[in-house]
Amino acid sequence: MSGLLSVDADRLLADLTTLGGFGRNGAGGVDRASFSAADLAARAWLTASCVKAGLRVEVDGIGNLVVSSPSLEEGIADRAPVWTGSHIDAVPNGGMYDGPLGSLAAIECLRRLHEEHVALERPVRAIVYVDEEGNYAHLLGSSALTRGFVADELQELRGRDGDRFADTFAAAGGDLQAAAAVRLTPGSVHASVELHIEQGPVLEREGVDVGVVSGIVSIGGGTVRFMGRADHAGTTPMDARKDAVLAAADFITRLPALVPRAGAASVVTTGIVRARPGGSNVVAEEAEVVVDFRHPATEKARQLEELISAAALDVARERELQVNLDWEPLVPAAPMHQTVRNAIRESAAALGCSTRDIPSGAGHDSQNLATIAPTGMIFVPSVDGRSHSPSELTRDRDVVHGADVLLGTLLRLAAAQPAAATQDSH
Ligand code: GLV
Ligand code: MN
Ligand code: MN
Repeated sequence: MSGLLSVDADRLLADLTTLGGFGRNGAGGVDRASFSAADLAARAWLTASCVKAGLRVEVDGIGNLVVSSPSLEEGIADRAPVWTGSHIDAVPNGGMYDGPLGSLAAIECLRRLHEEHVALERPVRAIVYVDEEGNYAHLLGSSALTRGFVADELQELRGRDGDRFADTFAAAGGDLQAAAAVRLTPGSVHASVELHIEQGPVLEREGVDVGVVSGIVSIGGGTVRFMGRADHAGTTPMDARKDAVLAAADFITRLPALVPRAGAASVVTTGIVRARPGGSNVVAEEAEVVVDFRHPATEKARQLEELISAAALDVARERELQVNLDWEPLVPAAPMHQTVRNAIRESAAALGCSTRDIPSGAGHDSQNLATIAPTGMIFVPSVDGRSHSPSELTRDRDVVHGADVLLGTLLRLAAAQPAAATQDSH
């Protein structure tokens, strides 16, 4: 790697460890839902460390952090910037790499460019997107930037704990009107690139250093609510009940056999089930199932929504109770842009890293960015393919490879002549 600008590996690894401590729970996982106390503390730590490094941190209307280098931007601040970044919120009992790797590597790359006073043709900015994991809405921060929300939509959002987004956001100093006004116009970002762990087993299994993401799946989801009747658990005969939980169970168990009808790559997950009123001796009056479904092709994901809706309606009819379907707008599949993919490949080759093209079954803010700017993603191996779990692990060497490939990619996207920006760094 000599001759190429590289990240400060020790600093990046130390940052990952520090960030992994925010929200660390007794099971060894990370609980850091967006706008939780742990998330706010992590954001404050990140902001302070950027400011200490001489970088500027701005918070946009929805809560995305935008990090820049004022000195590097002198004379070029009005040019469309290259964006890089990820998220630092986590799924419940999640790991310490999903999101933090791409966020901290983005900041580390910017810090290195800043330290070395690298002359750029356009600004490089590091973005930390808010609520990627959908405590309130999947890809919230990037959706606000690319498709936009109206304030009424934001008013409706509720968190996993049932809290209203509007209340939590206001308590954190947010303003819904400002949140609804952050929309970007196509062309306002020159290009976008995100580093992320693979979250699957392919790269490790094949011994490949870096995945060049070819495209990101289409994702749909929402809430299916069965409404039955509350009755006494001891006195109501089994054939006289309208048990909403049984309807939900019937619906859920039909899905694995049903979804392959939209294609073998279909996946469906029902990770949240809620029953009301929630008494062990009360037949459930209401059962809510939160559904997540995905397919690499948008039309197939749309077909999945139809199949799942039909199954819910069949169950309600057969069991003689009511059902309500509340689907969120489908996030379309996003092919990654050839220009960015080529820059990633060139950067990896210059570092001697092997690459392969790889699709992403996970959702990422990059799929929203792809609707307004040429976008790409860099994957690095996940040990045993584990993710969304405390077992999530990416080896230090892969962390550093990924960050160095990101830095080389940024130089290619932000400098007219990348060779002129390379130099001995240490
Ligand atoms: C994000 O991790 C997702 O794929 O849901
Ligand atoms: Mn995730
Ligand atoms: Mn992620």
